Amino acid sequence: LTIGVGRAHGKAILLGEHAVVYGAPALAIPVPQLPVTATATRRPGPVSFAIARPGNPTMTLLATEGLRHLVAEFQQRAGIAEPIGADLLIDCAIPPGCGLGSSAACARASVLALADAFDRRLDGRQVFDIVQVAETVAHGQASGVDALTTGSASPLLFQAGTARDLVAGNGVLVIADSGTSGSTREAVDLVRRRAEQAPAAHEEFVRRVAQLTEAAARDLEHGRLTALGERMTENHELLRNAGISTDLIDALVESALAAGALGAKISGGGLGGCMIALAGEPAGAEAVAQRLRDAGAIRTWLVSHAR
Ligand code: PMV
Repeated sequence: LTIGVGRAHGKAILLGEHAVVYGAPALAIPVPQLPVTATATRRPGPVSFAIARPGNPTMTLLATEGLRHLVAEFQQRAGIAEPIGADLLIDCAIPPGCGLGSSAACARASVLALADAFDRRLDGRQVFDIVQVAETVAHGQASGVDALTTGSASPLLFQAGTARDLVAGNGVLVIADSGTSGSTREAVDLVRRRAEQAPAAHEEFVRRVAQLTEAAARDLEHGRLTALGERMTENHELLRNAGISTDLIDALVESALAAGALGAKISGGGLGGCMIALAGEPAGAEAVAQRLRDAGAIRTWLVSHAR
């Protein structure tokens, strides 16, 4: 019996979601307080999956389907001829359907656990490619920003499959769960239909988000938090116009700004899920988080990546 363990964590997208699927950059940060641990125990027979996570104890069919593809891809890339057998247990602290990268983090932890259990060394690119197989099944189309950020220790500026590590700036990010889950697959689909039906508006969306995201990455690195916050709020407006926000998330964005946040926006796939707000320091962040809970958020997290 050989047991392997793999770890990953949640992520939040500061700017660039959806546009990143069309080649724009995205700015994302790891959320280490939302860990995922996968344990693979080798045994004869097919791979079985079990997942424990908040709010949703059972796995969705899509997630199971994604993991099945992931196992097949792992087996092939690891050069294992015979079908592999294992119990794969995933302990996931990330709420699903929340825009916090639960599917990518579960996939990443699973690949690392399998590699550990079967004593195979995979480089970063191989792990990324295998995670992307599961992500594509789960989301229909996946940029890869989640696949990388769920394994990164630092903020990333991601574009077209590669990422640059950014030096973490000061500031505190508040993440608030609106309590309604959104399907990333449906949101990605909605943006794709708009790209087909209104190509000019879509191209303008991608172009403006790309501009904002590049400027925001420079702001983050230089500690210009006020400018970074303003760009986040502007990105929210663009996402709202693209139809992927909800009334509740718009209200939470307003509440955060009224409570003194430097910027606020929906984060991740959208159509529900989480929003984020930027604060200059911990006390300000706690005040914003309190206001967001008063306005209907079911839970909040504070993330800081102090230099
Ligand atoms: O909802 P999440 O956490 O899976 O984030 C999805 C991010 C998108 O840009 C909407 C999709 C993608 O593949 O980049």
